[in-house]
Amino acid sequence: MEPVLDSLMRSYVWHPYTQMKEWPNFDVIVKGSGMWLHDSKGRMLLDGVASMWCNVWGHSKKELVSSMVEQTKKLQHSSLFNLTNNRAEDLAEKLVKLAPNMHRVFYSDDGSTAMEISAKIALQYWYNKNEKKKTRFVVLENGYHGDTIGAMSLGYVPSFFSRYKSVLFPVFRTPSPNSYRIPDGFTFQEYQDFCLDRIEKKLSKSNDIAAFIMESGAQVAGGVIIYPIGFQKKISKLCKRYDVLFILDEVATGFGRLGSIIEYESQNSIPDIVSFGKMLTAGYLPLAATLTNKRIYDTFLGASQQLKQFFHGHTFTGNPLACATALANLSLYKKYNLMSKVRRRSDQLKSYINELFKLRLVGDVRHKGLLMGIELVRDKKRKLPFGPEKRIGDRIFIEARKHGIYLRSLGHIVMIVPPLAISEKELDFLVDGTIETIKRVSDKII
Ligand SMILES: Cc1ncc(COP(=O)(O)O)c(C=O)c1O
Repeated sequence: MEPVLDSLMRSYVWHPYTQMKEWPNFDVIVKGSGMWLHDSKGRMLLDGVASMWCNVWGHSKKELVSSMVEQTKKLQHSSLFNLTNNRAEDLAEKLVKLAPNMHRVFYSDDGSTAMEISAKIALQYWYNKNEKKKTRFVVLENGYHGDTIGAMSLGYVPSFFSRYKSVLFPVFRTPSPNSYRIPDGFTFQEYQDFCLDRIEKKLSKSNDIAAFIMESGAQVAGGVIIYPIGFQKKISKLCKRYDVLFILDEVATGFGRLGSIIEYESQNSIPDIVSFGKMLTAGYLPLAATLTNKRIYDTFLGASQQLKQFFHGHTFTGNPLACATALANLSLYKKYNLMSKVRRRSDQLKSYINELFKLRLVGDVRHKGLLMGIELVRDKKRKLPFGPEKRIGDRIFIEARKHGIYLRSLGHIVMIVPPLAISEKELDFLVDGTIETIKRVSDKII
C-alpha cells in the first residue's frame, strides 16, 4: 500500500487502535471550519465521521466558540465536590427536562466512564436496597460500551479485547438480531423472537441480575446494526416484568444521530439509567452524563453514616466550560430546526442505497438517520467477510483522502457518520466520494 504521509515529522504521540510501525506519521490537522478539516499543507478533507461521531454543527461554529470564550472568562473549572456551579446545574435541569422519566444527572468525561457509572449505580442501587445478590449484568452480543475495563467487560468485542480477557468480569450475553446475518433455519422475525425469548429466559430464571444493558437504537461500533422496530421496547418491558434495571447507552445515538434527540423516546422504551456523551457538547469538549430516574436516586439518600452515597467522582465532573458548551449546543437545535434538517439529509442518504448495493463488493447497506454502514464482502452470495490481512479499513481511509473525504471504517464496514448539520451539497460530495472510494478499492483488491 502507498504510504499515507509525505512529510516526515517527529512525533511522541501514540495513536488509538494504530500499529505505529506502519503509520509513523499522520496528516496534521491545523484548523476546522464547517464540515471541513484543514491540514498543515493546506489540503481540505470533509469530516465524514464527525470526528468520531460527535460533531454536530461542523467545526468552529460561531455561537459555540463565543459561548466557550465567554465561559472561559468567568470560570474554567471548579469541582462538584462540596460545591456546585451554575452551568452544571443549568445543564442538568435541561437534560432532565429533555429526557423522559429522568430525575438526576451524574457527570463524567467520556462515554466509557459514563457507562462505568451506569453499571456502578445499578450495583449500588441493589446494594442500598439490601438485595446484595443482584450483581450480574445481561448484555447483547456485539454491543460496545467503551474501552475501560468495566466498559470492555460489558461490550466485549473479541477482536479488540481478547488480550485483556483475564481481567474482564463475566456477564451474560444474549444474541442480537442482525438482518444481514440471520442464522440458518430462521426468518428475521423468528430470529428476533428467538433473541427476545433468550433474554426472557435469562431474566426470569436468574435471581442475581442487576441490569440489562444495551445501546439505544443501534449497535454502532459492533457493525452498524440497526434494531428492528419494537425490539428495544420489548426488552424494556421484559426488564420491568422481571424487576431488572434497564440501562441504555445513548453515547453514540443520543442528540440526533438516528433522527431523534432522545432515541429511547422514539423507541418507546423507558430506561432506568441512560448515558449520553459524544454529541452532548457538539463534539467540542469532552463531557458525558449519566441520568437516572427518581426510584434509583432515592435509594442513595440517607444519613451519611449509612454510607448510601454514590462512591464515584472525577476531577472534571461537571466542568463548567464543558457544561456551558453543551448548553449552547442544545439551545441551537431548536433555533436551527436541526432535527427536520436531519430528516431531509437522512432521506437524501437513503436515496443512495440502491446505487450502493450495485457496487461489486457491497453486501449490505444499513441506514438510519445520519448513520450508514456499508458492509463489504468478498463473496456477495455467501456473504463472506474479508479477513483482517486485506486491511480494508486502511485502504478505504487512504483512497478516501484522495477524494477529499475523511472516512474511518470498522474494518470491512465503511461508515458514513457526518456532522448533523451537513448541507445537501456536502452530503452529495461525501457519498459520491465514498462510492468512488469503494469502486477504486474494489478494483485493487480482486
Ligand atoms: C455506544 C458507545 N458507548 C460508549 C462509547 C465510549 O465512548 P468514549 O469513546 O467517549 O469513551 C462509545 C464510543 O464510540 C460508543 O459508541
